[in-house]
Amino acid sequence: MDPLIRSGLDAYETSDADFVERAFRDILRRPADDEARDRALTKLADGTLSRATFLHELATASEAARVRQLDDAIALGLAARARGEPLTWLQAPAGTDERVIEVPWVLSRLVPSGRVLEVGYAFAEAPYLAALLRSGVELVGVDLAGRDVEGMERVQADVRDLPLPDASVDQALLVSTLEHVGADNSGYGLEAEEAPASRADALRELGRVLRPRARLLVTVPLGEPGDHGWFRLDDVAGWNGLFASAGLFVEEQEAYELTADGWRAAPGFRAEGVGYGDHGPAASAVLCTALSVGRLRRLATPDGLSRTVKRRLRPLRHRT
Ligand SMILES: C[S@@+](CC[C@H](N)C(=O)[O-])C[C@H]1O[C@@H](n2cnc3c(N)ncnc32)[C@H](O)[C@@H]1O
Repeated sequence: MDPLIRSGLDAYETSDADFVERAFRDILRRPADDEARDRALTKLADGTLSRATFLHELATASEAARVRQLDDAIALGLAARARGEPLTWLQAPAGTDERVIEVPWVLSRLVPSGRVLEVGYAFAEAPYLAALLRSGVELVGVDLAGRDVEGMERVQADVRDLPLPDASVDQALLVSTLEHVGADNSGYGLEAEEAPASRADALRELGRVLRPRARLLVTVPLGEPGDHGWFRLDDVAGWNGLFASAGLFVEEQEAYELTADGWRAAPGFRAEGVGYGDHGPAASAVLCTALSVGRLRRLATPDGLSRTVKRRLRPLRHRT
């Protein structure tokens, strides 16, 4: 058979209903909604829409642009991880939210095996979770909210009080989650809190469940420090102070800023006058950090030192 005729036949092999559903999944990565499905099926049936035009309409919709940007970011992150080259100096188009930076930064640093906690998975981008599920790690989703995800152990718990043993996790990932701990999470169906200081409790608790030398990858929005109710914004010094207070050591860190040309690395980032949503749909800047916890490193932070000294003195005080 002539391959062109074969392709022409293949294009009409499935029913209109299957074709529409498949196109939605491939291009927009979601099931077709009732209204769009009914419109497409009616028009395909009465001949006012062809399959080629329907595919073109979907592929050029603004929703598809967002899918492509995130897919590009995921492809970049996974390929870098396969090469063993963590991504730095990333770039992404203007008008996008911070996930196009956070996701490849984190994916390119994903440990290739072992038990990996994804904290705040319940509202994570589906393609990002799908990429983690495909990565071969033993994935554990932690969130106070619930979500039905097959192929992943789910722990519905507060990250500040995890029902997990000490030193049982090989890596933990927090993508735009830490800034919400202790904040008003009613938008996620949770209780409203006003306890931003408890973000340090979350980091300490993660330090407890991580194995020695395991890493914690944290991405958070950057900007002029302030409480926005549903999250807490901080500058680089603010976030680093929080990491240090939790006894964590910064192994690697990059700041990124959304400029008129798009997302760019911002090594000398200055938070003055930089607000949330000022330059695009969400954060104007983001801080990506790889943290580690280790006995020696715990000693190296002021808070870690005092906690270690107190712990060491505890039996002594008891005896005296
Ligand atoms: C902005 S969403 C996270 C975004 C997501 N990680 C992503 O990749 O797009 C914040 C998440 O944190 C969760 N959350 C807030 N406070 C929490 C806590 N104390 N313990 C566990 N999860 C919490 C919320 O339920 C929500 O799923």
